[in-house]
Amino acid sequence: MLILIDDADVTKIKELYAKYPYDGVTTNPTILSKTGNPDPMDQLKKIQSVIPKDAMLHAQVLSTETEDMVREARHMVSVLGENTYIKVPVTANGLKAIDILAKEGISVTATAVYGVMPAFMAAKAGAKFLAPYVNRLDNLGYDGVQIAKDIHTMIKASGYETEVLGASFKNSQQVLEMGKFGIGVVTVNPDTLKSLALNQVAEKAVQDFIQDFEECCGAGKTMLDF
Ligand code: E4P
Repeated sequence: MLILIDDADVTKIKELYAKYPYDGVTTNPTILSKTGNPDPMDQLKKIQSVIPKDAMLHAQVLSTETEDMVREARHMVSVLGENTYIKVPVTANGLKAIDILAKEGISVTATAVYGVMPAFMAAKAGAKFLAPYVNRLDNLGYDGVQIAKDIHTMIKASGYETEVLGASFKNSQQVLEMGKFGIGVVTVNPDTLKSLALNQVAEKAVQDFIQDFEECCGAGKTMLDF
């Protein structure tokens, strides 16, 4: 399962990449606005400068009319390069834009996916990734994890190469459910990413090993000393 960082803060992205090689970064207009940078392309280029060249960067169009979405997507790819995945919301106009962009060879992530059928239509239109909003679905009274799983099942049964990119998580349990079901990609905010990796019991076990070792071999000693 690929793991993307759902944030646009360059310091946080650098900090996370220093600890583990993630697979890229996702943004949306709200995430970009939180950086306070009034130039989103500048912010996206800054992100590109701190992640590996082959890492994915996902960025979203703002337009709502099909032709405008298409022009905006082409512009974003021309500025940011071909390893940019253009996020297009799955509205009626968005579906048509996905169809046009996919035929041009532009990589599209269908975003704001709130149901199985919209996801299926986006896959048919040629989207490379489908981003169901797990937590937002939960907040609407649906089962976000189950909808993400149903999309995965339907896409695989249909033979599409499109992958589910689980998004909008509020806890690590929701992310683990994606992994257990074989979902291809998740995008996770830095706080939840840290809680995925952090295990207090393991940290405590290490401290106990050190204490036992030092009692026998001397304070501050490691295997390097012998
Ligand atoms: C993906 O990038 C989505 O836009 C994002 O995960 C949405 O997260 P939110 O529901 O926490 O805003």
